[in-house]
Amino acid sequence: MTRIHVQTAAPYEVTVGDGASAQLAAFVAGELRRARKAVVVADSNVAPLHSAAVRSSLSSAGLDVYDFVFPAGERSKNLATYGAVLDFLAANHFDRTDFAVALGGGVTGDLTGFAAATYKRGMAFIQLPTSLLAMVDSSVGGKTGVDLSAGKNLVGAFHQPCAVFCDMAFLSTLPEVWRMDGMGEVLKYAVLGDANLFSKLEKAPLSPIGECAIAGCIGMKRDIVEKDEREGGVRKLLNLGHTFAHAIELLSGYAVSHGRAVATGLAMSSRAAAKMGVLSAADCVRIESLVSAMGYEAHVRFSVDGMADAMLSDKKVSGDAIDLVLPQEIGRCFVRRTPLSDIGKVVSDAF
Ligand SMILES: NC(=O)c1ccc[n+]([C@@H]2O[C@H](COP(=O)([O-])OP(=O)(O)OC[C@H]3O[C@@H](n4cnc5c(N)ncnc54)[C@H](O)[C@@H]3O)[C@@H](O)[C@H]2O)c1
Ligand SMILES: [Zn+2]
Repeated sequence: MTRIHVQTAAPYEVTVGDGASAQLAAFVAGELRRARKAVVVADSNVAPLHSAAVRSSLSSAGLDVYDFVFPAGERSKNLATYGAVLDFLAANHFDRTDFAVALGGGVTGDLTGFAAATYKRGMAFIQLPTSLLAMVDSSVGGKTGVDLSAGKNLVGAFHQPCAVFCDMAFLSTLPEVWRMDGMGEVLKYAVLGDANLFSKLEKAPLSPIGECAIAGCIGMKRDIVEKDEREGGVRKLLNLGHTFAHAIELLSGYAVSHGRAVATGLAMSSRAAAKMGVLSAADCVRIESLVSAMGYEAHVRFSVDGMADAMLSDKKVSGDAIDLVLPQEIGRCFVRRTPLSDIGKVVSDAF
């Protein structure tokens, strides 16, 4: 079992390991002893697989446990589902001292976290991530929110969980397409800050990763989030590959999933960085090769103009420039503020 301490304004622990969720009851009995009720929020795929065990451990801690189940998928991450969670809490007389448990992927975590951030001006919530992406990325850092019809994650709040339990056992039921999706973010962490992880992935590009690698990714996210809880500076590094990825997702009509788009975005960022002379040709080839070896596309089929336009419509565009994250070497990246007028050139370099 690995423990990672996150020193944000409200500090918390992330516990990673096989059976980590068994520690939930003890945590609740210790840290949330004033709570009388807990709601387990899960989607329609995860609830039948994993809710019962979580329910029983919360019941064993003496709580009244409620289930809120919503249809699985990004399309549920909206104001209507968010409102339904709030109404459910109110109808069941939840108090500010009670808490919510987000049992699921990033959709469940973001939705539950936002409801917890705002219900009665804030209640505690615990993250029990069940997807690889939620473990290495969305469950840590305190970004919560839902989508609007105008775009993804357009409404939300910063609200840190009071604990995160990454139980490796949950991954045994995760479908392969979603495991692969999460691996796109794992590869991002490797390029961003862990040359050893990168080498390990090169040796076994298709193998499932274990507790140690997952904890390593969480540690990297923790280091960045601690320095910059509200994304004013270094947290932007976590967007490595993402400006390209968001454009790929948009142009594919969201047929290409986020993590796959991130992997392709990594190859594109690397080519752009190599053309600028900030990344060696050798490292660029290693990144492109690993992207392909892990089963992702290293190139896009869209036009340069289409990609450039899609990138300019990204919500991360601020003023007359985009903060592009570029690799300098495997395991080290930097943010380059890029004038919008240069984006066409950057995109053509990235092809
Ligand atoms: N808050 C953040 O910092 C942050 C960071 C990255 C992504 N996100 C958000 O995360 C979301 C994507 O997360 P995701 O990829 O986990 O999506 P998701 O929550 O939709 O989960 C993916 C799919 O896997 C299923 N699933 C999850 N765990 C399972 C398990 N153990 N067994 C069987 N099925 C399981 C889900 O039902 C779903 O169908 C997006 O909405 C994105 O915006 C947030
Ligand atoms: Zn991402």
